[in-house]
Amino acid sequence: KRLILIGPPGSGKGTQSPIIKDEYCLCHLATGDMLRAAVAAKTPLGIKAKEAMEKGELVTDDLVVGIIDEAMKKPSCQKGFILDGFPRTVTQAEKLDEMLQKQGAKIDKVLNFAIDDAILEERITGRWIHPSSGRTYHTKFAPPKVPGTDDVTGEPLIQRKDDTAAVLKSRLEAFHKQTEPVCLLLSIHVKMMHFLLKKSQLWVIDYYKKKGAVAELHAEKSPKEVTTEVQKVLSS
Ligand code: AP5
Ligand code: ZN
Repeated sequence: KRLILIGPPGSGKGTQSPIIKDEYCLCHLATGDMLRAAVAAKTPLGIKAKEAMEKGELVTDDLVVGIIDEAMKKPSCQKGFILDGFPRTVTQAEKLDEMLQKQGAKIDKVLNFAIDDAILEERITGRWIHPSSGRTYHTKFAPPKVPGTDDVTGEPLIQRKDDTAAVLKSRLEAFHKQTEPVCLLLSIHVKMMHFLLKKSQLWVIDYYKKKGAVAELHAEKSPKEVTTEVQKVLSS
């Protein structure tokens, strides 16, 4: 299967990905995780991406398209993949289609983690991560057995630099500007303008809705309930 997970910060993409990955033997390609690894290793890519990430802005399309192009060539990704956090702009979606066309492949499903913005601050500010495995915890919703410590290794957990209420605002702004509109009315208005100006799609979600590939999830439900919804969509 070739899947795309779309959803705002904290909607549960990174929580559901390892479960889907194991069940369907897919590779998990999360641009955010790859960029954070590059920033930590101070690679040329990381140096270019650091500032935008810390401000909660998107890094340039060229940078992320380059990483995905490289990662998708891995043998482990040939059978299928989960794209988590990519594409986030219509340009990225178009580039992805070009890459897939070369392989004679196409996207099977786009899972839209639909959720109200108001829920996200608590999820984001309570998130703790085990850096080397990527295991994710939450002080309230998924607490580790010992506070601040990874359940498996006993190593310390960390918080992401961009997981503050202030940076979340910019991340949500970027999401609603490029990936999914904030409300239906605005969306209809802008779509009409674009139609009149004969411009291409503005939002990633519409790009995939046009292709009939989008499945909506109730991402405000518990992690287990969201997993059940994902399984239903993928088995249909
Ligand atoms: P990225 O790493 O992709 O961050 P994001 O999109 O902001 O998403 P998050 O990782 O915050 O959310 P998630 O949905 O994975 O939430 P999680 O499951 O962990 O991107 C970071 C930055 O990199 C961007 O800002 C940008 O600068 C750059 N970037 C990345 N990709 C890019 C691209 N394509 N183009 C340009 N720039 C790019 O859950 C969050 C918390 O909630 C956890 O603590 C979890 O335990 C808890 N939780 C999860 N599900 C539930 C539930 N159902 N109920 C209760 N709690 C839950
Ligand atoms: Zn994530």
